[in-house]
Amino acid sequence: MQKRTNNKKSKGRKVNEKQTITYNLPEGPLNFYISEETASYGNKKPFTVYYDDPEHSLRLLKGDCIEILNQARDNSVDMIFADPPYFLSNGGITCHAGKMVSVNKGKWDKSKGVTENHKFTLEWLKACQRVLKPNGTIWVSGTTHIIYSVGFAMQELGYKILNDIIWYKRNAPPNLSCRYFTHSTEIVLWAAKNTKSKHYFDYPLMKKMNQGKQMRNVWEISSPPAEEKKFGKHPTQKPVELLKRLILASTKKGDLVLDPFCGSSTTGVAAVLLNRKYVGIDLEEEYLGVSRKRLEQAIRGKEATLCL
Ligand SMILES: C[S@@+](CC[C@H](N)C(=O)[O-])C[C@H]1O[C@@H](n2cnc3c(N)ncnc32)[C@H](O)[C@@H]1O
Repeated sequence: MQKRTNNKKSKGRKVNEKQTITYNLPEGPLNFYISEETASYGNKKPFTVYYDDPEHSLRLLKGDCIEILNQARDNSVDMIFADPPYFLSNGGITCHAGKMVSVNKGKWDKSKGVTENHKFTLEWLKACQRVLKPNGTIWVSGTTHIIYSVGFAMQELGYKILNDIIWYKRNAPPNLSCRYFTHSTEIVLWAAKNTKSKHYFDYPLMKKMNQGKQMRNVWEISSPPAEEKKFGKHPTQKPVELLKRLILASTKKGDLVLDPFCGSSTTGVAAVLLNRKYVGIDLEEEYLGVSRKRLEQAIRGKEATLCL
């Protein structure tokens, strides 16, 4: 249960609108964050609940993930998948559907320079570390543009890096400039909250999924198929297959999965399909709209299968 202290005006003293919340564990599984009603904010509301489905333990929050996570309960999340801005949208070119297009994924993806970008990485990784349960783990995807900063920040913060997964995209687009090798990989770093963590790893399942052989850290998975984009396109959408594997490897049924940069909620779709709880955060309403449609479709699909 939450205990709320509201510092109202008393005997002529100045009103302090800020509320302090004390949490007594254990709470409901989705209560890792404060709800709109109990948030500890002054004048500025840090977030809104965009979508709430308590029956299926799903929630989408609109706002800045650092501000939201800094108000959330600590030690409350089993697993985090973060696909942060790669800071790629700086006027370069790329190949999309066989055509040359400019890399412009959105304002949120513009670089602020190496130092500022690293500061941002440190801040959100620190906020994530606090909300992770002692034995919880975090996965962070990235390319050369950010992954070294992420790895360095993890070491600065005392995370324990467990693995670097090389995600190989067999259908990567060609390199148009012909001055570089074709980019066809991303890295997903896997880390535990700290060096004392006893992280969960479903080793037998991973082995079974790999025809009885130990699973290695190179995973060949295609970019998302058109079917996964039918409710609208997100410029950096991840494939459901990748998220299913990450979730299966590091969580149990009923665990709470958090995605602080959820975009179209690929993480949420995988969580629904695998019976995990999910909280997604994003700044952009447009992407939360796509998220909602995808989550609702995943629920319908799962329920239809159960009725067969
Ligand atoms: C790389 S995309 C994630 C895509 C997602 N994995 C998917 O499969 O659709 C990053 C997302 O983070 C959001 N974002 C950027 N900065 C943010 C912040 N400070 N707080 C919350 N969301 C943010 C962007 O709007 C964008 O949708």
